[in-house]
Amino acid sequence: FRIGVLISGSGSNLQALIDGVKSGFIPAEIALVISNKADAYGLTRAREAGIETRVVDHKTFEGRSPFEHELIRALDDAGVELVCLAGFMRVLTPLFVRHYLGRLINIHPSLLPAFAGLHVQQRAIDAGVRFSGCTVHFVEEEVDAGPIIAQAVVPVLPSDRAEDLAKRILTQEHRLYPWAVKLFVEGRTQVKERVVHIQPAQW
Ligand code: GRF
Repeated sequence: FRIGVLISGSGSNLQALIDGVKSGFIPAEIALVISNKADAYGLTRAREAGIETRVVDHKTFEGRSPFEHELIRALDDAGVELVCLAGFMRVLTPLFVRHYLGRLINIHPSLLPAFAGLHVQQRAIDAGVRFSGCTVHFVEEEVDAGPIIAQAVVPVLPSDRAEDLAKRILTQEHRLYPWAVKLFVEGRTQVKERVVHIQPAQW
């Protein structure tokens, strides 16, 4: 099973997936890592793991469609069957989403549908919630709104600043994403009326 990972930055979630593949936990291979930023540290992580990398810089394209066509061409040429967004900071248009619908997933650092969008850790603190966490979901055309595959919860502490909460959530992301990818790769996720059912039932 061939996985493609799109990144824009540090790639700590990518690293968790690399480790999950290397340990055999995820029965698949990461065929390609693409970053829209040439200086993304995640590219170094991929190269050190012997994974093919590409930089597709959105700024060198006239508009979103040519950029996304290039992403699609690179991913399809690599025979990618599941696309994982991992800290990828570009909004994808229906063109890309439709091409990979049902095999395009993302990790978001909040308990969706709460706190979709950006600056989610600060917004959770400002809202006074007692718990936050992370969500792995299928990507649909509406941003941060597709069927939920898995979630993990962390406490929000009174002393938390955004970076403290972000760090606590990130630790859970590195556990949750490999597990969610494993479920998908093993064919254990099924979407029925926008709800993802896991076989065997395991919450
Ligand atoms: C993390 O906050 C993660 O929640 C979001 O992107 C940020 C960077 O992740 N998906 P990474 O370290 O680049 O994987």
